[in-house]
Parts: sequence; structure tokens; C-alpha cells
Amino acid sequence: MPIEVDTVPAADLTGQGRTVCVTGAGGFIASWLVKRLLQKGYTVRGTVRNPVDPKNDHLRAFDGAADRLVLLRADLMEPETLVAAFTGCDGIFHAASPLTDDPEKMLEPAIRGTNYVLTAAADLGIKRVVFTSTIGTVYMNPNRDPEKPVDDNSWSDIEYCKKTANWYCYAKTIAEQQAFELARQRGVELIVINPVVVLGPLLQTTVNASAAHVLKYLTGSAKTYVNAAQAYVDVRDVAEAHVRVYEAPSACGRYICAEGTTLHRGELCRVLGKLFPEYPVPSKCKDEVNPPAKGYKFTNQRLKDLGMEFVPVLQSIYEIVKSMQEKGMLPVLPTQDDHVLQDKLLLKSS
Ligand SMILES: NC(=O)c1ccc[n+]([C@@H]2O[C@H](COP(=O)([O-])OP(=O)(O)OC[C@H]3O[C@@H](n4cnc5c(N)ncnc54)[C@H](OP(=O)(O)O)[C@@H]3O)[C@@H](O)[C@H]2O)c1
Repeated sequence: MPIEVDTVPAADLTGQGRTVCVTGAGGFIASWLVKRLLQKGYTVRGTVRNPVDPKNDHLRAFDGAADRLVLLRADLMEPETLVAAFTGCDGIFHAASPLTDDPEKMLEPAIRGTNYVLTAAADLGIKRVVFTSTIGTVYMNPNRDPEKPVDDNSWSDIEYCKKTANWYCYAKTIAEQQAFELARQRGVELIVINPVVVLGPLLQTTVNASAAHVLKYLTGSAKTYVNAAQAYVDVRDVAEAHVRVYEAPSACGRYICAEGTTLHRGELCRVLGKLFPEYPVPSKCKDEVNPPAKGYKFTNQRLKDLGMEFVPVLQSIYEIVKSMQEKGMLPVLPTQDDHVLQDKLLLKSS
């Protein structure tokens, strides 16, 4: 099949002649992953729950999509749809998942759905599966040493997740642990990416959890910020990490995917307020009693060892806001002082 990739160096066309499936292809991370895979010459079978929903149209506009992308209907709770989507694939990227702490919506698709994905891959003899997990399976443990960086050996405490009603972390931790066990039993190479909170430009037109994380501080719906701190990563780096581990023959196990900086929610709001002073960004913490939370320490060394460099977090924050404006999720308000990005990114020194 012809590949219209004149601008891509031949050495970068590592996916030519290879077919992969991406579950939940229309999502925030998966959209960038599909785009990157197409750029690299892969043929992509993307699963969505409704192929004719216009919210998936952006996928068909990617370079290479006309010849090498097919969208198929699949639901994580219908294993036969996964088998049909995976048939003929060399590898699977499992990105589909609800992102909610509502146990009714979260548990079954995350745990049973991931199990179905691994089982379908194994039944079809597919060797390699890359699973998009989360840092939430890594650091949610009251007994860990807060001074010791979490790494690929760190696991969230399932009972603690349950007790604190962190059903997203609970479900993803069980899903990931069961997936490793099933992969071991069935001889599938499972590689897991554990991203922290993902920001950066949106390709899709719908508001996902990442967009909502930032949007509430710009629309006036959040009057205060919570006393919490965490790391961030750019969505383009998350997509690249998936491709790198898929293509590295020796890749195995878990990869924490994070830029190096940890921001308290107050710092995120200060950055937003400086970059976009036209919005009513909160300046007060909801918790005025306790000292500012510090956030987990972590290492992203395993991805750096695969040659990854990370987009600076300020750029990811700036670009997610600009893309929400462009997609009409956030009204563009007049601003008196329209700095260029470079000026705005001098925030660190101010
Ligand atoms: N965003 C973050 O900050 C972040 C951080 C760490 C990890 N992650 C992980 O990254 C992955 C993707 O996250 P995202 O932010 O890109 O999410 P997203 O934009 O909300 O996309 C999630 C996708 O999952 C699909 N999905 C949900 N339930 C499904 C089901 N039962 N069957 C089939 N598809 C289903 C949705 O499809 P429909 O369009 O049909 O609803 C949607 O396309 C998730 O596994 C998440 O746990 C995300």
C-alpha cells in the first residue's frame, strides 16, 4: 500500500508492513498514539465504541489514515468485538478505559476489560501488548517512604485505595497486576506505561479528564484549589513512550512516564494565572490549615534510557489551554497584554 510520507526519513518508518490495534482510539492519549503510529508507517486498527460518532472524525483526518487506518466498533465488555478487532495484528496498544472514581463505571471495564484484551491477544498468538496504566497503580501506598522515589517496583496498596474510595487507582492496580499474571501464564510480552497527569494539546473535540483538570481553574467553576501536588507529562511524550517500548526488543515491565517537575495545585494555578490572566483562576487553597502537600518523588529513568526527552511542563500547560480555546471548549477572552509564548515561559524567573 502506498505511503504518503515524503517528509519522513526512511529510518523513521519502522512500522511499514506492520499492523497494530489501538483500543479506545478516539481518546486523548490514543489519538496522539494513532497519529504517531501512522507517521511511522504502521497500519492501524483503531477500536471505538461508535465509529460513526463525529467525535472520532479527527482520526480520519490524520496523514496516512485514508490508506492505513480502519476504525472498528469494540467494547471492552464484549470480548468477541476485541477478538475481531485484533485479528491480523502484530501488536496491541490497550489505552481504552473509563477515568472515574465511580466504582459502577470503573471496575468492570478496567479489570474485566483488560483481562479480555490480554486473553484475546493470547488466543490470537499476538506476542506484544502495551497497556496504558497510570501512576495511580504506583504511589498510592500509605506505607511507602515519602523520601524514596517511586519506581517500577512500587505498587499501590489495594486495600488503601478501597478504604479511601480511590476506585480508579484500585481498578487500574488490579487490572495491571492481573494482566501481568495472565501475560506470564499465556506467554504474552506485556509492557506497561504508567503516566502521571497528562497535559498538552488535544486532538479530540471532547473534554476528557486532562482537559477537565485544567478547565475548572479557567471557567470560574473552581473557586479554590486543593492541597495536592503531582507530576505532569505531555501527551505527545506519552504516545512516543508507547511506540518506543513497543519497538524496543528488550523492553519489559513498567515505565513511569513523567516530565521531571512536580507542581502543587497552587503552582499550577499561578502558572495559569500568569499565562492567561484574562480567566478567573483561583488564588486560594481550599485547605488553609495544613502545610502544602509535597507529592510523590519518582524516577523516569527507564524511559530516558530508551532515549526519551520530555516536553517542559509549562509548554504542556500552555498548549492544552490554547487547544481548548481552538476547539471551543473555552471562550477566548480579550487580554490587554498579549505576551508571546517565550515571554510567558519566563515565569520561572518571576
Ligand atoms: N489523561 C490522563 O491524565 C491519564 C493519566 C494516566 C493514565 N491515563 C490512562 O490513559 C488511558 C487513556 O486516557 P485518556 O485520558 O486518553 O482518556 P479518554 O480521552 O477519556 O479516552 C478513553 C477512551 O476509552 C474508551 N472507553 C471507555 N470505556 C470503554 C469501554 N467500556 N469499551 C471501550 N472503550 C472504552 C473511550 O471511548 P468512547 O469514546 O467510546 O467513550 C475513550 O475513547 C486510560 O487507560 C487512562 O487510565 C490517563
